[in-house]
Amino acid sequence: MTSATGPLPTAARSPSPQSGEGETPRHVAIIMDGNGRWAKARHLPRVAGHRKGIETVRVVTRAARSLGIEVLTLYAFSSENWRRPAEEISDLMGLLRHFIKSDLDELAREGVKLRVIGDHTAFAPDLVKMIDGALARTAANTGSTLVIGLNYGSQDEIVRAARALAGRDPAMIDAAAIETVLDTSGLPPVDLLIRTSGEHRLSNFMLWQAAYAELLFVDTLWPDFGADELRAAVTAYGLRERRFGGL
Ligand code: FPP
Repeated sequence: MTSATGPLPTAARSPSPQSGEGETPRHVAIIMDGNGRWAKARHLPRVAGHRKGIETVRVVTRAARSLGIEVLTLYAFSSENWRRPAEEISDLMGLLRHFIKSDLDELAREGVKLRVIGDHTAFAPDLVKMIDGALARTAANTGSTLVIGLNYGSQDEIVRAARALAGRDPAMIDAAAIETVLDTSGLPPVDLLIRTSGEHRLSNFMLWQAAYAELLFVDTLWPDFGADELRAAVTAYGLRERRFGGL
């Protein structure tokens, strides 16, 4: 058990080796927000915002690779997004299908390993099959990692982790043990968490993994975010002083 004088949680004990002034974050996580407002401002249907949002996903994943970011996590569909109108949910699922069809070849060719966090098995069977196929196809890749949040919610992830550990000796349950049963098992902690569109909330995203993350809230709507904005975010991260609870 961790006491006041005991060991620090794993995320604090193992800050990114590259973290610190002027360094590139190893793991960047993004809450892609503002697609609906982008569309509304143009008198377009919400799906047009999501469609443009996919283009941004493409641009930002390429930019992340060229910046040397090891892991990029994108929050595409939260466990709370089921509350949206059926038509919008169906549009989002359609766009995900389209993204896998159109972008998997490039991701595979570039050595990107795909991972999913969240329980994507709740999706339609054909989409589950496509996602599983994409995960299998890129599983052996050793370049950067693209993590997509699908039916993801941090509290749900922690509940599933607690269930996975429930039969164990309580004395053996520590931060490291919990990390082995989280969806992000084996990934480095989040160094930089970005939310677009001017909202200042974490919305049930990576609550464990972002324990020591630098938070960056930008006003840009996700469809207007791009390589320059990502570069600026990485520069801003490099100017932050990370202390992990120390002095
Ligand atoms: C938030 O904007 C965005 C979403 C809920 C969906 C994000 C999904 C994509 C960009 C496409 C799928 C992604 C991948 C990786 C294939 P919002 O609709 O909440 O915008 P608003 O707050 O302005 O209404």
